[in-house]
Amino acid sequence: MGLTLMRWWHLRQARGNVLEVGCGTGRNFSYYDESKVTKVTAVDSVPAMLMMAMKKGMNSKLNIGYDEVNTQDMKKFPDNSFDTVVDTFGLCSYEDPVQALKEMSRVCKKNGEGKILLIEHGKGSYDWINRTLDRGAQHHACSWGCIWNRDINHLLDAAGLKVTNISRWHFGTTYLIEAEPANIATSSVNGVVETGVKAEKCKSKAECEKCTSCTQ
Ligand SMILES: C[S@@+](CC[C@H](N)C(=O)[O-])C[C@H]1O[C@@H](n2cnc3c(N)ncnc32)[C@H](O)[C@@H]1O
Repeated sequence: MGLTLMRWWHLRQARGNVLEVGCGTGRNFSYYDESKVTKVTAVDSVPAMLMMAMKKGMNSKLNIGYDEVNTQDMKKFPDNSFDTVVDTFGLCSYEDPVQALKEMSRVCKKNGEGKILLIEHGKGSYDWINRTLDRGAQHHACSWGCIWNRDINHLLDAAGLKVTNISRWHFGTTYLIEAEPANIATSSVNGVVETGVKAEKCKSKAECEKCTSCTQ
């Protein structure tokens, strides 16, 4: 399945008061069902992204609000405040993806009333593809700020989300996930959660100049 079809297929499940985190340029706006969504709060930590999203949102009939918010720290939103929380291709770019998932969980309604919809990419289903991803991970992270070999199932487990439906595509590297929020924000995984898998984004241009794995 192509990504356009995936976005349409998955996001038409969004209902009610929707929070979209890491919204980027607003690519998902056209896939929401206007008859089921009452409001979309679109957030991103990068103002330039929000500006592009706003421009795209002007052509939409949806009621969209915008805010500069870090997914890992969404204290401006109370617990249990959204019917649907959406994240597409965000877990590869967050510094702490488990914390981001815990925050999505916190703000999502509990007891079967809320849903978390994710489309993500990461570690695949086959050793050969994972070896390729691992080999290029550092270079890709430095070039694009995207850690493409994260173990998505492990992150979901660590954040305590209850996965109700998952399908994997493109040799298992693309994930369509429906989940219910964790009731309590605890990790079901003991020990350190591996979120970087040998790849880290360089934190500054100077650091990257010393980096032997990429040329930023
Ligand atoms: C790969 S893009 C995906 C954009 C969009 N969701 C899509 O599917 O096209 C990742 C987005 O996450 C945003 N982002 C990265 N770290 C973030 C954070 N800590 N909090 C909020 N947004 C973040 C980036 O600015 C970027 O817009």
